[in-house]
Amino acid sequence: MDKGSPLKLINARIVSMISGDDGYALSQPSCIHIQDGKIHSIQAGSQFENNSADDVEVYDCQGNLVTPGLIDCHTHLIYAGSRAQEFEKRLKGVPYQEIAKQGGGILSTVAATRSACEDELVELALPRLDGLIRSGVTSVEIKSGYGLTLDDEIKMLKAAHQLEQYRDIRVTTTLLAAHALPPEFAGKPNQYIDYVCDVIIPKVVELELATSVDVFCESIGFDIEQTERVFQAATNHGLKVKGHTEQLSNLDGTALTARYNGLSADHIEYLNEEGIKALADSETVATLLPGAFYFLKETKKPPIELLRHYKIPMAVASDLNPGTSPFADLTMMMNMACTLFGLTPEEALRGVTQHAAKALGEGDSRGQIKSDFDADLVVWNVSHPAELSYAQGINKVEARVLNGKVCSPAANV
Ligand code: NIG
Ligand code: FE
Repeated sequence: MDKGSPLKLINARIVSMISGDDGYALSQPSCIHIQDGKIHSIQAGSQFENNSADDVEVYDCQGNLVTPGLIDCHTHLIYAGSRAQEFEKRLKGVPYQEIAKQGGGILSTVAATRSACEDELVELALPRLDGLIRSGVTSVEIKSGYGLTLDDEIKMLKAAHQLEQYRDIRVTTTLLAAHALPPEFAGKPNQYIDYVCDVIIPKVVELELATSVDVFCESIGFDIEQTERVFQAATNHGLKVKGHTEQLSNLDGTALTARYNGLSADHIEYLNEEGIKALADSETVATLLPGAFYFLKETKKPPIELLRHYKIPMAVASDLNPGTSPFADLTMMMNMACTLFGLTPEEALRGVTQHAAKALGEGDSRGQIKSDFDADLVVWNVSHPAELSYAQGINKVEARVLNGKVCSPAANV
């Protein structure tokens, strides 16, 4: 990734999201010195003029807010087809689980995704990625899980990686082969899990196409034993694990994820205190997905008060997918996390920066504005950080900086 020449961001009012800091700790206009793609140092004061040596690029933030680049740590960005008709069906009262049991839902996206080639998947994903970029995203996690054969899962992961060639964005990929039981394995879930563990995971590791493995641990996904087998295989191959857990019911998938030192347990509407205690004994992040909660008209909220009580880091992500969260806008998810789950705007911002970075295993290098961290930043034309969670649908991004380079306006779409 191109690092560009040394860069100074002058007149930046910094919202650093440094861990341990309470409140926004909004700085006075300051200068962020960037070198080799990293934040080199931060100097307080507005005395910096555009008078640097020629090889130092200067960007004047004009007193605007600067936050860490937003991180969307849970998406299903790569897919083909639409589920608009399933949406209509659900609005008429047919539950999501029922549609899945009838062979619709995830499996209808699997059929469409299998029919598309890698380049088509890239083309279909770009407008969604542009939506995320417009909302200030600089890093995105993308899962497979609509292929469910070795070749189709590989096709999805390769398409996800290709996106970095078309946009200024960092992509992290997750293998989600255990997302649903494919039709050719109907009635034979354990044989499919064998195939995931013995064929798909080793090949994906060999091709270095994913850094973590996810499982949909649910009655319409895979049970706790099957989930553990996948976690075991992933761990044996040196991959990190994470889970879609406690979304529609409680199967204790979160505690299992924590036991495997998972990166994150995601959804967690049905999580109980036992599961939260397991999180407290681990480094696993709790990822909240308010878009899916809203779109499925779920009424059971994740246990936010208890998560706060046990000091569990909470990330917020879009879950961008065709079935349960067709929303390509991360600040909109911050808004929903506040209005639907009761997060404060500060918690929501931490959820898409510091804690989202931790959920990707990048907590020591991204998601905060401090020395030696990656220089992934957003300059916002707002005057207070709460505005990021507040008004939506207005382009608030003045500029994005990725790996120490100001993205071209075209790349800010
Ligand atoms: O995160 N819960 C499972 N997976 C996705 C939904 C996928 C789909 O319905 O296509 C989710 O909500
Ligand atoms: Fe998901």
